[in-house]
Amino acid sequence: MTRVLFAAKPNRWEEYREVLPAALREAGVDAEIVQLGEADPATVDWIVYAPNSALQDFGPYTALKGVLNLWAGVEDVEGNRTLRAPLARMVDAGLTQGMVEWVVGHVLRHHLGMDAHVANPEHRWHDAAPPLAADRPVAMLGMGALGSACASALAQLGFPVTGWSRSPKRVEGVRSVTGEDGLREALGGAEIAVLLVPHTRSTEDLMDARRLAWMRPGAVLLNPGRGALVVEDALLEALDRGHLAHATLDTHRVEPLPEGHPFWSHPKVTVTPHVASATRPATAARVIAENVRRGEAGEPLLHLVDRSEALA
Ligand SMILES: NC(=O)c1ccc[n+]([C@@H]2O[C@H](COP(=O)([O-])OP(=O)(O)OC[C@H]3O[C@@H](n4cnc5c(N)ncnc54)[C@H](OP(=O)(O)O)[C@@H]3O)[C@@H](O)[C@H]2O)c1
Repeated sequence: MTRVLFAAKPNRWEEYREVLPAALREAGVDAEIVQLGEADPATVDWIVYAPNSALQDFGPYTALKGVLNLWAGVEDVEGNRTLRAPLARMVDAGLTQGMVEWVVGHVLRHHLGMDAHVANPEHRWHDAAPPLAADRPVAMLGMGALGSACASALAQLGFPVTGWSRSPKRVEGVRSVTGEDGLREALGGAEIAVLLVPHTRSTEDLMDARRLAWMRPGAVLLNPGRGALVVEDALLEALDRGHLAHATLDTHRVEPLPEGHPFWSHPKVTVTPHVASATRPATAARVIAENVRRGEAGEPLLHLVDRSEALA
C-alpha cells in the first residue's frame, strides 16, 4: 500500500474527501490517504500539495516519491530547497476550461465594446457595430496547457492569434513566435494581449515600460497569469498617458489586492480577484491518481516541473 499525504488548507479536504479515494481506486492504486500530523513523515510516499499549506519543510519526508501540486502555478514551491523529490504541476481539464471561459469572456468584452452599453447613463445611441474578430489580432504570451487552449478557442472564433513561448508550438490557426523578436512582433501586432506565462526568474517584470511601449496604441492587456509579470508603475503610466486603453488584471503582486491600491479606483483597470480559473477536484483527482499510478508502476510522471528557472 502507498501512503498519500493531503497537504493543503484544511478546508480543501472536504472537496477531495470523496473524489480522491475514488480516483485512486479507479486507477487501481492501493492507497492510504493521511492528513498532516497523522503519519510519520518518513513513511509518506506521495504528497498532494497546495503551496499555501502549513507544510513548507520537506526535509523529514525522507521516502518521498513525488509532490503532486494542486495548482497550475508552482512559483511558491519549485524554489523550496528542502524538496528533492520530483514535482508535478496541475494540468486539469476543468482548470483549463475555466481559463478558456475567462479569457474568451474578457477578450469579447473589449472586442465588442460592451462597457459602452452596460453603463450608459446618458442613454447615448452607440450604433457603430464592432469589427469582426478577424480584424482584432490577439497576442497570447505563454502557449502551455492554458495559453494554447485559450489561443485555440480564440482562433476558432476568428481572431488572428499569435502565440509566444520559449519553444515553437503547433496549434491550428495560431502563429507561433519565440524569443525577444517574437515577443516584440506579437505585442506590436496585437490589439489585445493575454499573459499566461508562469512567474519565473526569466518572466518576472516581463511587461516593463519598454515592452508595454511595444504594444499598439489603444491596446488592452489581460493578466490572468501572475501579478509579478507586470511592472505596476509602468502599466499605470501607459494607461494614464493613453497608450493603453485598458488592463484587466486577475492576478496581483499582493493578494488580496490591498485597499487603496491605485488599480482599485483606476478608470481603465478592471480587477478580478484571482478567479480566472480554479482546479476542479473531480477532474484534478484523476490527474493525481494517474500520477501516483505511474510513479508506483515505475513510469514517468506527467507534468513534471523543470525547476531550472525557479525563483530563489
Ligand atoms: N489566474 C488564475 O486563476 C490562474 C489559474 C491557473 C494558472 N494560472 C497561471 O497560468 C500560468 C500558466 O499555466 P500553464 O498550465 O499554461 O503553464 P505551462 O503549461 O507551464 O505553460 C507555460 C507557457 O509559458 C511559456 N514560457 C515559460 N517561460 C517562458 C519564457 N521565459 N519565455 C517565453 N515563454 C515562456 C512556456 O513555453 P514552452 O512551452 O516553450 O516551455 C509555455 O508555453 C501558471 O503558471 C499560473 O501562473 C493562473
